[in-house]
Amino acid sequence: MLPELRKQARSEGLVRALEAHLEQTKEHAKRLEPVFRALGAEPSSSHSPPAQKLQEHHDELASSIPNERLADCFHATAAAATEHFELASYDALLALADAVDLDGDARKALEQNRREDEQALKAVQSQLERLVGELER
Ligand SMILES: [Fe+2]
Repeated sequence: MLPELRKQARSEGLVRALEAHLEQTKEHAKRLEPVFRALGAEPSSSHSPPAQKLQEHHDELASSIPNERLADCFHATAAAATEHFELASYDALLALADAVDLDGDARKALEQNRREDEQALKAVQSQLERLVGELER
């Protein structure tokens, strides 16, 4: 979702927020590999059906928004929705980590990813507020 939103976004501030989190997300994937191994599983990449649906819904509507600034508001909203989804997933994973008494380093990796997703959410929400403010002028 992030690479696609990054391609479509025009506002410099939103582009910067998306690019910064795109880099973080690559680290998130690497950071999760030992977590899988701590659970005796092999990491593999696959598409998340809920995230895919969010993207399809976004792409379907985004192309019909003629105003660039309004479209950026929509992109920022989609980015925020994605981060909310990730935060809910990390909350569930952290609860499971406690239930199976997951190794401390693996738990810390989940916490760090969650913390960075929370910061990314704040960054895109702040961009959304700025963009909405510019629409109101
Ligand atoms: Fe994220």
